Amino acid sequence: MMSPQGSPEPAPGVVRFYNFVPEGNAFLEDVLAGLALPQKSVPPKYFYDERGSRLFEAICELPEYYPTRTEMAIMRAHIAEMAQLAGPEAELIEFGSGAGIKTRILIEALRPPIYVPVDIDGAMLRAASDQLSRLFPWLNIIGICADYSRALALPEFVGAPIARKAVFFPGSTIGNFTPEEALEFLRRTRSLAGAGGALLVGVDLKKDKAVLDAAYDDSQGVTAQFNLNLLRRINRELGGDFQLARFAHRAFYDDAKGRIEMHLESLYAQFVRIAGRRFDFAPGETIHTEISCKYTAAEFIELARDARFESKKVWTDERQMFSVHGMIAV
Ligand code: AVI
Repeated sequence: MMSPQGSPEPAPGVVRFYNFVPEGNAFLEDVLAGLALPQKSVPPKYFYDERGSRLFEAICELPEYYPTRTEMAIMRAHIAEMAQLAGPEAELIEFGSGAGIKTRILIEALRPPIYVPVDIDGAMLRAASDQLSRLFPWLNIIGICADYSRALALPEFVGAPIARKAVFFPGSTIGNFTPEEALEFLRRTRSLAGAGGALLVGVDLKKDKAVLDAAYDDSQGVTAQFNLNLLRRINRELGGDFQLARFAHRAFYDDAKGRIEMHLESLYAQFVRIAGRRFDFAPGETIHTEISCKYTAAEFIELARDARFESKKVWTDERQMFSVHGMIAV
């Protein structure tokens, strides 16, 4: 078939999904284990049920929450260079399913033969893949439903011209790992990408505490709703009986640790039941729900070097708020 310009129309791409999520109720197991710890905690990956994902989208639009729009502007300004670093005929692997503009502009510039989004949320993965295949009908999309915070072996694809792998991990989600977890993640990504593979990763930069505090405790209370939604989700999916009005959102930047900490603070002495188990709270006791680590460019380059990624370029905005690192696996 010919396009209106007379050039041959590329063949339509295939869209396929693989489910690598193990059977069982990991959410229940993680919640029961986390609430039994001396510092109660629940992993941040559980924020993202349908309502949580919508609240996160609203966070990204907040005046105080600069990372999304800043990373977007950096990508728009440097997309040609980024695509050049990833190289032609790269299999594009993205952690977190991106139907967002960042993914779109990268696909437009790179035109990869295969796009492999990896996300734990199957519904999100399908919705994002649907949108992208409508926008880019020629694109082969292989959606992988998996928890990318754990070891992962991706299927190899035959029949498409793939010269290398390029991994895209935007949004500073790597900050939601501790530096030790981030190093492990980078090592796994390094072996996934193979020598010569590319990595484009968004990393939030260290900055003034007041700016960071406001970004995670906004004046409209959207981040508070996002944090509290975790309790709502535990109630709905695990039969918990949290009373949300008895907990408060707390978020602060710890300069010494270089990270935001988010907690849910119990306002009373109380207990909660989940799946027949009782959890007691003292007034002021917290459930630790998230960290968001911030790095200087040099700190992140060093961390990635330990995982055998060589820094090729760091793109930042004028105000040095956010960075996108371009790296090659050695
Ligand atoms: C997804 N992640 C990068 C966000 C962050 O900034 O750490 C999650 C978030 N938590 C509160 N606000 C945004």
